[in-house]
Amino acid sequence: MSFTIAIDGPAAAGKGTIARALAAELGFVHLDTGLLYRAVGALGGDPVAAARGLHPADLQRGDLRSAEAGQAASRVAVIPEVRAALVDFQRRFARTEPGAVLDGRDIGTVICPEARLKLYVTARDEVRAHRRALELGADPVQILHELRERDARDAARDVAPMRPAPDALLFDTSDMAISDAVRVAIEAARRAGA
Ligand code: DC
Repeated sequence: MSFTIAIDGPAAAGKGTIARALAAELGFVHLDTGLLYRAVGALGGDPVAAARGLHPADLQRGDLRSAEAGQAASRVAVIPEVRAALVDFQRRFARTEPGAVLDGRDIGTVICPEARLKLYVTARDEVRAHRRALELGADPVQILHELRERDARDAARDVAPMRPAPDALLFDTSDMAISDAVRVAIEAARRAGA
């Protein structure tokens, strides 16, 4: 049976970096599930139709990493039919042999409640804003505002809100170099049997 690792948490906490490094170390596939919502938001038009017709090529669009695409993703992500349309793809991906790492907001709670390892990665708001501002070459104050707005929406929605699964390991990366965070995550995966 495939070994699934679920990584959830707010924007810019380090989920993506940790997920990619874990997948590379373990020889697993990786899915950044935020990209699915970003692609649906960026396609425009009816988000439910966009989610139902989403094609892998839609995930290759060049403009999906921007702050605007993040906000658009968070807005379409509250729509239950959008989320429902994306479930099967994510669950199939999670069953890839020998293992899969999925990062997002509801992986440990909704998409893969049976995941063998769940990490909930956080960092202080200011730290996350600083990291994302460096990455995007943007104003940290503006980014802080944008992250808080997005996290509030993601945590408050009725369907699959962002929250740690009861059995998730909470992992605060605020005061860690990303290389140390990656090392700790790899140790956790090895302990879990990966
Ligand atoms: O991880 P990200 O910043 O690329 O995600 C963009 C938005 O997509 C996020 O603000 C909320 C939504 N999202 C979600 O609702 N569920 C997921 N599993 C992943 C992302």
